[in-house]
Amino acid sequence: RPPVSPDGVERMDWPELEATVASCRACGLCDGRTQTVFGVGSHHANWMVVGEAPGENEDRQGEPFVGQAGKLLDNMLAAINLSRKAGNPADDLSEKPATTAKGAKESVYIANVLKCRPPGNRNPQPEEIAQCEPYLRRQVALVRPKIILAMGRFAVQSLLQSSEPIGRLRGRVHHYEGVPVVVTYHPAYLLRALPEKAKAWDDLCLALEVAQ
Ligand code: URA
Repeated sequence: RPPVSPDGVERMDWPELEATVASCRACGLCDGRTQTVFGVGSHHANWMVVGEAPGENEDRQGEPFVGQAGKLLDNMLAAINLSRKAGNPADDLSEKPATTAKGAKESVYIANVLKCRPPGNRNPQPEEIAQCEPYLRRQVALVRPKIILAMGRFAVQSLLQSSEPIGRLRGRVHHYEGVPVVVTYHPAYLLRALPEKAKAWDDLCLALEVAQ
């Protein structure tokens, strides 16, 4: 299989990057996918959310977080006035806005560690994370967010190279390529562990402080 060339990816613009991901065959996940799931939201967002991998719904629709966990994520983001749909859809050519209109939602860019669905939603494998990492790295470099919210252990593994549990990493600010990172629980986990929602709320508040 042709591996992902980090050097090539580092220089790509959005259209090149998206096209490269769409035709990627660097790991075995390409055989089982309906389509790749690249990312959604404004390219000029101050906030970036990083999840794990597409599930069945995402694989079918081509957009991250469109299932149950995605609904919870959208509600969490809405609670702090953020939306994946905010901003001008044709904003690829515009500059990062200095301010957001009063009352308007602020935009967020959402991407996953893996761009292809693992079969049966199994956990991402280390070599799959490694192959896909240059794509996420380039997305972060192009968005240049003020804050990354890393959701779940695989986002943490990819961005922070850490296998520590979320409970040990949350509550303080980490960095990825100079961008502040706040770690929190994955929304799919929160659906099963409702008492942890209060902690996720604290994490969002910390991220809000950093993004100010
Ligand atoms: N879980 C994720 O981590 N990402 C998705 O896109 C959907 C569910």
